Amino acid sequence: MVIEEQKSLQQEHTFGIQASTRYFIEINRDEDIVPVILSLTEDQKPIMILGDGSNVLFTENFPGTVIRLNTKGIAVISENEEFIIVRVAGGEIWDEVVAYCVERGWGGVENLSLIPGRIGASPIQNIGAYGVELKEVLEELETVHLETGEKRTFSRDDCRFGYRESIFQQTLRGQYFITGVTLKLAKKPTLNLGYGSVKQELERSGITSPTIKDVREVVCRIRRSKLPDPRDAGNAGSFFRNPVIRTDQFAGLKQQYPDIVSFADSNGVKLAAAWLIDQCNWKGKRAGDAGVHPDQPLVLVNYGNATGVEILALASLIRQSVLVKFGILLEPEVNIL
Ligand code: FAD
Ligand code: EPU
Repeated sequence: MVIEEQKSLQQEHTFGIQASTRYFIEINRDEDIVPVILSLTEDQKPIMILGDGSNVLFTENFPGTVIRLNTKGIAVISENEEFIIVRVAGGEIWDEVVAYCVERGWGGVENLSLIPGRIGASPIQNIGAYGVELKEVLEELETVHLETGEKRTFSRDDCRFGYRESIFQQTLRGQYFITGVTLKLAKKPTLNLGYGSVKQELERSGITSPTIKDVREVVCRIRRSKLPDPRDAGNAGSFFRNPVIRTDQFAGLKQQYPDIVSFADSNGVKLAAAWLIDQCNWKGKRAGDAGVHPDQPLVLVNYGNATGVEILALASLIRQSVLVKFGILLEPEVNIL
């Protein structure tokens, strides 16, 4: 096991903020996970698991040990005519797994194409896009407790998934290391074309009987046109969650703002945070190197040398103005450290 000391994390996460960790360990084999966890002394803690760093904002140096999991492998557990169940190692890259499934005609994850990050992080916020969430295909996941080294399997229900939410962000925050995920995919896929822009892009491309491969291609195209590439400007995707509000509160807002962008949600009405921020005229605004993306205002950007504190200060001003104008408090989606 190689322990690096005082390692810079700037290249290890997509916001590209200058921050370092006291210790950094990469784990390449499943059998090393428990021994590594148990070998860490109190002085080397706290422990943080880092995937590809596409949903984190460092506001200070990390005082303990950052661990990255690089385990690879997609194994078929069982299958019948309808479904195939696969176990994916936690270090696999999410989009490479999607590509692997789509190539084989296994449906269920094609709408989640091109989401950055690793498999091990995907359940943390129940990744979602274009009308689909991870919880729809996740069977169970394997974990190791970060204090005791004990292994525990969580079923889908145990994970308490919600919109950009799971038990690993709530009561069990920072306690478990997700080491493998089991997915149930459909051999006779039902396409999920409910999301407006996917349907429109398929029509625009003249595709009348789409396959999951077509859906993947269209989703990739939409994403490339809408979301900034972290290689061009550091970011972590949507900085805030889309707020879900009560239907009576929505009725009041709709009266005042007839153009408000909203979506039906099982817990009320989901609002487009991008629209709320846009209405407060934040698009393209900058404070030094911390900025609001000019086309997608839900994405905060590091144009070069912004600090995590500066990004957070900008986020705070945005929250304040949305609160004053609409009476809605935006919640961060990014994990702030
Ligand atoms: P990291 O950012 O490294 O970690 C995220 C959190 O998970 C941290 O708290 C970390 O400690 C924890 N963690 C990571 N791995 C493990 C593990 N193995 N065990 C326990 N805890 C762990 N998200 C969406 O849902 N939908 C989108 O459409 C979407 N689009 C994005 C677009 C862009 C351009 C970017 C930059 C991000 C986007 N995201 C999106 C956010 C991000 O891709 C997801 O949250 C992703 O799952 C993060 O994976 P990661 O490996 O980078 O995790
Ligand atoms: N909009 C504006 N002004 C703008 C941009 C957008 O008013 O400048 C409005 C538009 O009306 C648009 C609506 O906002 O219809 C929603 O925008 P978009 O389709 O880009 O989606 P989003 O709500 O901003 C969410 C997720 C994304 C996910 C996409 C596609 C959250 C917090 N974000 O973004 O996830 O990829 O939908 O499903 O739920 C992420 O989590 O990091 C992420 C990128």
